[in-house]
Amino acid sequence: MKASKSWRSLMMKQHLLFDVGVCGAKMRQLPFMGVVCIIMLFIIYRTTNYQHQQTEMDSKFYPFYTLKDSGVGTSSLNALPHGIIEAKSDLELKPLWATSSSKSEVSVRSSYNLLAMPVGIKQKQNVDTIVQKFLSENFTIILFHYDGNLDGWRDLAWSREAIHIVAHNQTKWWFAKRFLHPAIVSIYDYIFLWDEDLGVEKFHPGRYLRIVKSEGFEISQPALDPNSTGIHHRITIRNRMKRFHRRVYDARGSTKCSDASEGPPCTGFVEGMAPVFSRSAWHCAWHLIQNDLVHGWGMDMKLGYCAQGDRTKKVGVVDSEYVVHQSIQTLGGSSARKVPKLEETVKRHTVDVRSEIRRQSTIELQTFTERWERAVKGDKRWVDPFPSTRRRKVRRNRSNSRRQSNV
Ligand SMILES: *[C@@H]1O[C@H](CO)[C@@H](O)[C@H](O)[C@H]1NC(C)=O
Ligand SMILES: *[C@@H]1O[C@H](CO)[C@@H](O)[C@H](O)[C@H]1NC(C)=O
Ligand SMILES: *[C@@H]1O[C@H](CO)[C@@H](O)[C@H](O)[C@H]1NC(C)=O
Ligand SMILES: *[C@@H]1O[C@H](CO)[C@@H](O)[C@H](O)[C@H]1NC(C)=O
Repeated sequence: MKASKSWRSLMMKQHLLFDVGVCGAKMRQLPFMGVVCIIMLFIIYRTTNYQHQQTEMDSKFYPFYTLKDSGVGTSSLNALPHGIIEAKSDLELKPLWATSSSKSEVSVRSSYNLLAMPVGIKQKQNVDTIVQKFLSENFTIILFHYDGNLDGWRDLAWSREAIHIVAHNQTKWWFAKRFLHPAIVSIYDYIFLWDEDLGVEKFHPGRYLRIVKSEGFEISQPALDPNSTGIHHRITIRNRMKRFHRRVYDARGSTKCSDASEGPPCTGFVEGMAPVFSRSAWHCAWHLIQNDLVHGWGMDMKLGYCAQGDRTKKVGVVDSEYVVHQSIQTLGGSSARKVPKLEETVKRHTVDVRSEIRRQSTIELQTFTERWERAVKGDKRWVDPFPSTRRRKVRRNRSNSRRQSNV
């Protein structure tokens, strides 16, 4: 993008030189034309300069703000000198004053990674295990407390190193949309947006990242141990013989997966419970998360569009570092396939919470699908990078309905 911009400004300069040449020739013939030329030159200069400034400003903000869509225009910043605006931010806890140790830490750290997890106090022990693993690899930790219980965590040694956000009864996608804005997390190379009920005994974040980097996975997940509960797609199951895989082969079931498969759920697919995003992939995925749809249904099928290229290559499942999905029913989880087991609540209330959430999720899936289709129709410039999805529509429809009956 940068290249094309500077190319454009180069073109403008050439244009300007050309005009000067024309003006020079004309000036000898008609002195009056000289005045016109000077005015013209001035106008060209002003427009070019303005456009240049605008371009510079757009390119500075573009990665973080989608100006047109957010309703926040650059003009609201006109009173500030450009250089004062910091485009990036992070979630690091800063010391109140510079000590010698904080200085040395800055020089030591070459990469930053983030673990973000919705948590409830009932999962304290497992969350503790997960966080300790990630802390030993210098991850930054942000916890989203959906049950409102923060005090219960204070006794853990790492609690003060983590960032805690509390909001009652909110979902993972609600939190992620509001607190993981791409500008705020732009320092992190990889973002782990995980559920709290994953067993990490056989998972090492450092080794995982080495595989992800060497394979160029922009979106990935650790494989699920076959004894996990709640496996919805075969592609996520661990292959003992491999370090990682990009596709699954499965001749059974309604969705046949072979080398010919070009899209989800055979390839280019991860599930919502343990996705890992590169910086660019997260920038895209954050925009895909709908502000008002909180259950995230349907997102997994579209995440491949955020793979920064060919989803059959840039999306992968890591087998050598795997997790056990315990499928504990929590609200914070990736989707309402897992809904709180609120037996007491269910008895007390006449409304069944679980079926209500499931119903809402289904409605959201439909809304999301309709929005996607409307957006595709409305954007004439958009070309589906994965045109095969059109042919697969009928099959996907079937798998969608199977998914709905699964929950
Ligand atoms: C974590 O950071 C410390 C310094 O703060 C450094 O000594 C250590 O090597 C880092 N560990 C990893 C796995 O990067
Ligand atoms: C959260 O949800 C539970 C279960 O539906 C309910 O009992 C509780 O009152 C809710 N809390 C808030 C703050 O809305
Ligand atoms: C699944 O296997 C792992 C070891 O690979 C074991 O630690 C775990 O308890 C098992 N989980 C279930 C639900 O059987
Ligand atoms: C997809 O499924 C819905 C019901 O879930 C149905 O109304 C629709 O006709 C199906 N579309 C195709 C193309 O099969």
